[in-house]
Order: sequence, then C-alpha cells, then structure tokens
Amino acid sequence: MAATHQVTIITQDNESVVFECRSDEDVISAALRQDIYLMASCREGGCATCKGLCSEGDYILGKFSSQALPYAEEEAGEVLLCTCYPSTDIEVEVPYTYDRISFSPEGLFFEAEVTEISQISSNVMRFLLTRTGDDKNVKFESGQFFDLEIPGTTTTRSYSPANISNKKGELEFLIRIVDGGKFSTFVKKDAQIGQKIQVKSASGIFSLKENGFTPRYFVAGGTGLAPVLSMVQHMHEWSEPQKCVIYFGVNTEEEVFFLNELEDLAAKMPTLELRICVWKYGESWQGEKGSVVDILRRDLTETGAKPDLYLCGPPGMVDATFAVCEEVGISKEHIYLEKFLPSGS
Ligand SMILES: Cc1cc2nc3c(=O)[nH]c(=O)nc-3n(C[C@H](O)[C@H](O)[C@H](O)COP(=O)(O)OP(=O)(O)OC[C@H]3O[C@@H](n4cnc5c(N)ncnc54)[C@H](O)[C@@H]3O)c2cc1C
Ligand code: FES
Repeated sequence: MAATHQVTIITQDNESVVFECRSDEDVISAALRQDIYLMASCREGGCATCKGLCSEGDYILGKFSSQALPYAEEEAGEVLLCTCYPSTDIEVEVPYTYDRISFSPEGLFFEAEVTEISQISSNVMRFLLTRTGDDKNVKFESGQFFDLEIPGTTTTRSYSPANISNKKGELEFLIRIVDGGKFSTFVKKDAQIGQKIQVKSASGIFSLKENGFTPRYFVAGGTGLAPVLSMVQHMHEWSEPQKCVIYFGVNTEEEVFFLNELEDLAAKMPTLELRICVWKYGESWQGEKGSVVDILRRDLTETGAKPDLYLCGPPGMVDATFAVCEEVGISKEHIYLEKFLPSGS
C-alpha cells in the first residue's frame, strides 16, 4: 500500500494549508480529494500554474514540459504540484495568497454564452462571452486567465481576457488560431452565437504589482496583448500615475490587430506610449520595424531605463525578452511573465 505523507502549503501571506497525500498521487489531486482547490489549470505539467518551491522534504516529479519548469528551476527545488509525488512529508511555498485557495467547488465554474465571434487579423479571432443567469459578476485580477471548455467535450484551454473585471458578465478573449488546434477549430468553425460554454473561474498569478512610481513596460507577442490590455485598462480605470509603454509585436502587418483600440487608449492615457513592432514589414509600414525583443533592447540600452517588465505571449518570445532584460541589468524581481504554453506539451 502506498505510504501517506503530510503536505504543508505555505502561501505568500504566510498562512498554511495542511493535508495528506499518498506517495502514488500528485499533490493537486490529493488536495482536490480533500476539497482543497489549489491554483492549477492543465494538471499535466504543461502550464506552470501550479508552480511552487519545495522548501522541505523529498518528492518525485512525473512528466512535465521543460518550458513550464526549466531545468534551473527544477534544480533550485521548484515543483509543479500536479506532477509532484511526495516521498516524505513536504513543505511547499506557493506564489499566491491564502484567499486564492477555495475549499468548495461552489462558484468555481459558471456558464457563459457566446455573444460575438469575429476575425480581427489574419490569425486572431475576438471571442466574446457573456455570463448567463442572474449573477453577472465576472471577477478577476487583470492578467489572470480563465479555462474554457469546448462544448460537448471535456477539453479545456486557458485564455486571458482583454477586458477588466465587470458586473455585466462580459469576457473578451483574443484567440490566436493554431492550425488543427482543438479550441482554435472550435472558435473558427464550430462556435455559434448563443452557444453555452463552461468557464472555470479566474486563475494565475500574472497581475500588476505595486512598486511605487516605477514605470511599467509591457511586452506582448501576438495575443499576449490580451492580459496586457486588461492591465493597462485597469491602470486607466484607477488613474494609476506610472508611465507605461506597450511593446506589441507580431510577425507581419496582416497579423496586427486592435490598432484603433490601442490608439484610443493612448489618447485617454497621457502616461501610455505605444510601440507596435512588425518583424517582416513592408515599405508602407509606419510603426517600429523589427522584433519586439530588438526594439525593447534598443530602448532600454539607449535610455538606461529600469522599469518593471510584464512579458506575455509565446514562450520563445518571453524567454528572449527575459534574456534582454537580464542583459541590460534589470533584476528578475522586476520581471513578471506569463507564457502561453501549448496544452500538454
Ligand atoms: C495561462 C495561459 C493563458 C493563455 N491565454 C491565451 C490567450 O489569451 N490567447 C491565446 O491565443 N492563447 C492563449 N493561451 C494558449 C491557449 O491556451 C492554447 O494553448 C492555444 O490556443 C492552442 O489551443 P488549441 O486547442 O487551439 O490547440 P491544441 O489542440 O492544444 O494544439 C494543437 C497543436 O498545435 C500545437 N500548438 C498549440 N499552441 C501552439 C502555439 N502557440 N504555437 C505553436 N504550436 C502550438 C500543439 O503543440 C499541438 O501540436 C494561453 C495559455 C496559457 C497557459
Ligand atoms: S496545472 Fe500543473 S502545470 Fe498546469
């Protein structure tokens, strides 16, 4: 029979949750069995939502993506709790506060209906959902994501809303269409206005951090713009005074989207600057020419600025931008990121 060990989860605000875990079950499943809903999404080692730092005890890690848990982090004792099998009692520090843990499934899921589907660039669809029922509250921190289920299946994918928390039930998603992708195919071909969809309430730790008046630079690759827009709109809503710059990068001019929306936001927000970067540009392109990584490097080198950095989008772009930040002397405590890791990679 499998041995049972004690797991202690220590939250950012120094609270703790203690539960039992058998050596043949992962920590997220053991917690769920005891009605403890820790932060998790894919539950297969692919998304990094369940990451923590094991400060005491031994464990075995199952299969996981090296992008979700790079070797250096694994060596430093970081774990993905959905693939972590304790072999002794363990203590794990998680990067979120106690109030992010639920102790009942109630309120964790809600139904929404599809209210708009439109193509906004050569490879991005805008996908609007509205919560059904009387309770229209959609509560989340700008930067967080929701898990959406393809109707009639158990397949879910994570998407970060581009709008902000509201009581009208609205969730606006920007979805990059991946050839042959399950959710991509659903959005592009099968989704219908009025169709009902199950939504798991907000998860994730990518969000605005308080750091005085330090400027905030946001670097978005493709649909990585969605959580960035949410964060910058939140700053506008709360009249936050920090300077902010959005670096929005795509490969070709046909892939640019939301130019008007970005310009409208900049017109309302004197603190906001835009850098729209196209890597393979044509003669008529008036914006920044080159990759978002190179344009950011240029600006940081020329100005010597030391802002807080918020990076979001494809893993390769996020990693390359992270390296640039380190190159110009921005310490990792000032870099916050969300990689749009493909599910099950
Ligand atoms: C926290 C989080 C937030 C996210 N938010 C967003 C968002 O706001 N907008 C958004 O567009 N996406 C977002 N993603 C990515 C999204 O969850 C899906 O992974 C993506 O849409 C592909 O899903 P799919 O079902 O269409 O493809 P799948 O059926 O999962 O994949 C089909 C094939 O395509 C490959 N593939 C999947 N994604 C990519 C990719 N990006 N590049 C190259 N190959 C790929 C897979 O490995 C597989 O071989 C987010 C991911 C995470 C982890
Ligand atoms: S929930 Fe553990 S890696 Fe996705």
